[in-house]
Amino acid sequence: MRRKLVAGNWKMHGSLATNAGLLQGVRDGVAGLAAEVAVCVPYPYLAQARAALDGSNVAWGAQDVSEHAQGAYTGEVSGAMLADFGCRYAIVGHSERRSYYGDTDAVVAAKFEAAQKAGIVPILCVGETLAEREANVTAEVVTRQLDAVLSRCGIAALARSVVAYEPVWAIGTGRTASPEQAQEVHAAIRARVARDDAGVAAALRILYGGSMKPANAAELMAQADIDGGLIGGAALVAADFVAICAAAA
Ligand code: 13P
Repeated sequence: MRRKLVAGNWKMHGSLATNAGLLQGVRDGVAGLAAEVAVCVPYPYLAQARAALDGSNVAWGAQDVSEHAQGAYTGEVSGAMLADFGCRYAIVGHSERRSYYGDTDAVVAAKFEAAQKAGIVPILCVGETLAEREANVTAEVVTRQLDAVLSRCGIAALARSVVAYEPVWAIGTGRTASPEQAQEVHAAIRARVARDDAGVAAALRILYGGSMKPANAAELMAQADIDGGLIGGAALVAADFVAICAAAA
């Protein structure tokens, strides 16, 4: 049985003042729950997240990582720096990075590798745009995104990661994939991984992300191949995030 994981992606939201209440609310709200919980916060707040969550059952992480280990890369943050702040996770290949910041499949694979080299578990995001879904190429798109990582890092590396299926058309739109639509893609992802290694595929956690909220979380996470959620908007409200974690537990 795969243990469910609910990870919050705060994106570029928050302040020291608002984070304090949110972190405390999540910490208290999920204490004792059987699901694994994490929050991926903006870089400047990693120290605050560590201080607030240390010793709790909530892990913390970042929303991106440099593909480089160190050097003259102004504005970038390395995996080792994230490890210094006790990060367990780093999101790589979020669709907002892919579409606004030019993170290609190759760059995402390099970031995946860099995170693992630093001991950070990458949360690899894949997902199709609305145009791609309407053109019936969803499976090809997510397979291509996955294959870029598999060919660079190998199947053993995938075993030390988490995958998140995030249909771009469902992110921040209030338009959620139906449980059947999500399950179909999750199953395709697992089948692709099983082609390389059935054991890795069976153990791999595949999260769903895209307008997941308390009202739809339980139904989505009841699907056979949905092992948790990557939560945007609802992760900014402690009660909502905690309710999603409870649905996973
Ligand atoms: P929303 O939950 O706001 O749709 O965002 C999903 C997401 O992009 C998480 O990474």
